[in-house]
Amino acid sequence: MIEIKELIKKALEIKSRAYAPYSNFHVACVVMTKSGKIFEGINIENSAYSPTLCAERNALSTAITHGEREFVYIVITGDSDYTYPCGVCRQFIREFADCDTRIVVAKDSENYKTYTIDELLPESFSKKDLK
Ligand code: THU
Repeated sequence: MIEIKELIKKALEIKSRAYAPYSNFHVACVVMTKSGKIFEGINIENSAYSPTLCAERNALSTAITHGEREFVYIVITGDSDYTYPCGVCRQFIREFADCDTRIVVAKDSENYKTYTIDELLPESFSKKDLK
C-alpha cells in the first residue's frame, strides 16, 4: 500500500535523528491521524537512563499535543530487522489505538508487518476498566 510505504520511508529518513549515545540503537516512529496529519518521533536517551523517551511515545505525544487522538497508522522502524514497541509503549499506544489502528513494524518499505493493539497487548488494562 502506497500510504504505508510513504510513512515507512519517512520513518527511515528521520531515524538518524535519534539521540541514542548510550545504546546506539536508533528508532523512529511516524503516525498518521484519522484527519490525515503526520507526526514524527525518535528515541531520546538520557544519561540517567530511565528518563529515556521511546520513539513511539515521542511521536504520539507530539500528535496529542497538537489535538489529535485518533490514529490510522503507527509506523515503527529501528536498528533491528523488525523493531517492536516495548511494553511501556504498547500500554501507551493502548490508550489511543482502536480496533482500526494499524501498528506497522517495518524493516523497509517492502518488508513490514501489521498488527492491531489487541494482537500486541492482549487482555490489557485500559480506560474501559476505569468506567
Ligand atoms: N526504544 C524505542 O524507542 N522504542 C521501543 O519501543 C523500543 C526501545 C529505544 C529506547 C532506547 O533508546 C533504545 O531503543 C534501546 O532500548
